[in-house]
Amino acid sequence: MSEFYEQVAIDLGERGYRIVIGDGLLMSANAFESSPSARTAVIVSNPQVASMYGVALRAALLGRFMQIHEVQLPDGEAHKNWQTLNLIFDALLQNNCDRKTVLFALGGGVIGDMTGFAAACYMRGVPFVQVPTTLLAQVDSSVGGKTAINHPMGKNMVGAFYQPQLVVCDLDVLDTLPLRELSAGLAEVIKYGPIYDMAFFDWLEQNIDALMARDRAALAHAVRRSCEIKAWVVGQDERESGLRAILNFGHTFGHAIEAGMGYGAWLHGEGVGAGMVMAAELSFRLGLVDASFVSRLKRLIERAGLPTRGPVLDAADNAGRYLELMRVDKKSEAGEIRFVVIDGPGKAAVRSAPDSLVREVIDACCA
Ligand code: NAD
Ligand code: GLY
Repeated sequence: MSEFYEQVAIDLGERGYRIVIGDGLLMSANAFESSPSARTAVIVSNPQVASMYGVALRAALLGRFMQIHEVQLPDGEAHKNWQTLNLIFDALLQNNCDRKTVLFALGGGVIGDMTGFAAACYMRGVPFVQVPTTLLAQVDSSVGGKTAINHPMGKNMVGAFYQPQLVVCDLDVLDTLPLRELSAGLAEVIKYGPIYDMAFFDWLEQNIDALMARDRAALAHAVRRSCEIKAWVVGQDERESGLRAILNFGHTFGHAIEAGMGYGAWLHGEGVGAGMVMAAELSFRLGLVDASFVSRLKRLIERAGLPTRGPVLDAADNAGRYLELMRVDKKSEAGEIRFVVIDGPGKAAVRSAPDSLVREVIDACCA
């Protein structure tokens, strides 16, 4: 095992598991000690990530599995759909994989969400392990068991709650992440401050430059604290009957941006960045936070290299197009959009708002 590693536990009874965070874990068989073992493992990745980290993961798993197959999916959010998902089932069936086969998701959130969904469906459920290689996936998507694919009408609309059995976050892999992707991951880190932990928000304000410079100690703290907060929230409300919705701060606007621009044009984290500014502005206009809080959040998002204004989705009726897309959000009830708002710094709530007010926010916050 590497010199430096930490663990965060997800307390979900028999579905509980550990998140292991440290350096050099992909090269370490010990990091996978608590992974299920079986005759067969399948590593699901994409060409970009597999070419950098596939060999190391395979080597780390050799002692635990008699055979290790690989399937590579086309890279990118535009491919997070049924056709791509089917490539995983094709590979599992072609290799006679049985219901003990363990899937390993080696990649960012796209690979993790699709591998998890495939694991939930194949033979009605096979075990899977998350090996997240983007900052976004290490701080958010690999933890908590949300798995999904996109539908042209809405983001992550088809999926399942299905927990991994282990998450292995190797901080070394963040060295090869393009800067734009690092920024996208920081959006999901930043969100934990306003919704839950303003002390962490203060820390982020002091350390955002170190994070952008990939300072290892700063990244380790950000990943661990994000995982702790996410683990606590998921432990309280695994299937989002209430509390877990706070993790979607900025996502209602952000998902509309992603779908409206065409999946992949704006990165998920970029949509969340601009979306958090819009959700904070809505909170201000609802009288829940003051203007200085909105400016503070906006400044941090900007310093993380993220957009703070949403794109124009429709020149004729931009707010109307946002509203149309946001009605398909999973939090909507009977066609009424529900927003995660900040009800005083460090505390989130879920609220509806009059369309007229939401239109004002969109008009104020889009380029
Ligand atoms: P991604 O999976 O598309 O990865 C981003 C890019 O980085 C890809 O091109 C990938 O090949 C590349 N890459 C990955 N690791 C790399 C590395 N170490 N070095 C160099 N390049 C690397 O994007 P993402 O931001 O990781 O994930 C976004 C997805 O996550 C969205 O689909 C979003 O909906 C989902 N998500 C899910 C949850 C959840 O709870 N399940 C939470 C947040 C986001
Ligand atoms: N990323 C939001 C959630 O996991 O609930």
